[in-house]
Amino acid sequence: MMKFRNTWAEINLDAIGYNIQQLKKLLPEDRKVMGVVKANGYGHGSVQVAQTALDAGVDFLMVALLEEAVKLREHGIRAPILVIGRVHPSYAKVAAELNITLTVFQSDWLKALHNENFTEQLSVHVEFETGMNRTGICSKEELETVMEEVNKLESVRITGAYTHFATADEVSSAHFQSQRTRYEEMLEHLTSIYPHPLMTHIGNSAAGIQYPQHMHQYTRFGVSIYGLYPSHDIRQLENVALKQAFSLYSELIQVKKIKAGDFVGYGATYVAKEDEWIGTVPIGYGDGWRRSLQGFYVLIEGKKMPIVGRICMDVMMVKLDKPYEVGQKVTLIGEDNGAVIDMDDVANYLETINYEIPCMLTSRVPRLYK
Ligand SMILES: Cc1ncc(COP(=O)(O)O)c(C=O)c1O
Repeated sequence: MMKFRNTWAEINLDAIGYNIQQLKKLLPEDRKVMGVVKANGYGHGSVQVAQTALDAGVDFLMVALLEEAVKLREHGIRAPILVIGRVHPSYAKVAAELNITLTVFQSDWLKALHNENFTEQLSVHVEFETGMNRTGICSKEELETVMEEVNKLESVRITGAYTHFATADEVSSAHFQSQRTRYEEMLEHLTSIYPHPLMTHIGNSAAGIQYPQHMHQYTRFGVSIYGLYPSHDIRQLENVALKQAFSLYSELIQVKKIKAGDFVGYGATYVAKEDEWIGTVPIGYGDGWRRSLQGFYVLIEGKKMPIVGRICMDVMMVKLDKPYEVGQKVTLIGEDNGAVIDMDDVANYLETINYEIPCMLTSRVPRLYK
């Protein structure tokens, strides 16, 4: 991709491959990894991450939207892909044509296919609602009505059954155990009325890292393949060492000396207490670098430089310890001369979770791969 601007994200694909190897080692030998690349690979680039994951031995991918799966197919990715979001029944044909697996949790969804005389070969996974109350089949009775509709559709096959945990990122959660039990009950019921081979998968990163021995055939690892821990609790387990794959850099575009009492930025919210060096960095909320990061810091030559004044749409200002040249590298996320700003530092400052940070950085920030 052509890059004119001097702000960029660097994606370390080797780190993603490494993380997958480490996560795989946690699981019993016969268990597999599903690579979660929804939301453009958590902002890292879904096609590049998918390819890296497949090279690292992953043989199933997961996304949330049909669009996301189609994009992978358009880029030549032929591995099986599961879409977890509800796709409108009128687009089931698109999935069938591209050999994309959809999720089903409503009998009406299947009825709609029946009414359209759907005859394409389509593989679906059923999702069981076990305690998250997001999506899923809520009871054995509901499962039976779903199965009645499945049986009317000769070309639709259930090939998998899954659930999703609400609290796997907390240590020793009773709710996690109750969801597991509920899943096993629903699965047993399904296999008793639908005697076909099923791929089963229950866990995300947190479940896979904390309870590898409880994972079914596949574990849907998302955030961890990018080198991020799903929570502080999970990081504290210290059973897997992950490498963060995403770094964010920019360069100073102007350096100036301001006098005591001078203001910086919109609203003149920052007033220099003394004569100060101010650097302008070309990243702003138009790139997803949120205004509420005012007061946070960046790294220059391994030293912390505070973000001063309001963050603009395209640029922000930082207070420097000395005059630097225009073109001086600025690290917003990542390692610089032994100092580090990791995704959790940014997330903590914004009072959110690390998942949100690479997702919030828009496509204005080019992703460069190494
Ligand atoms: C159903 C499902 N499985 C797996 C994942 C991956 O979760 P994580 O990124 O915590 O590994 C998600 C993410 O939201 C999900 O919704």
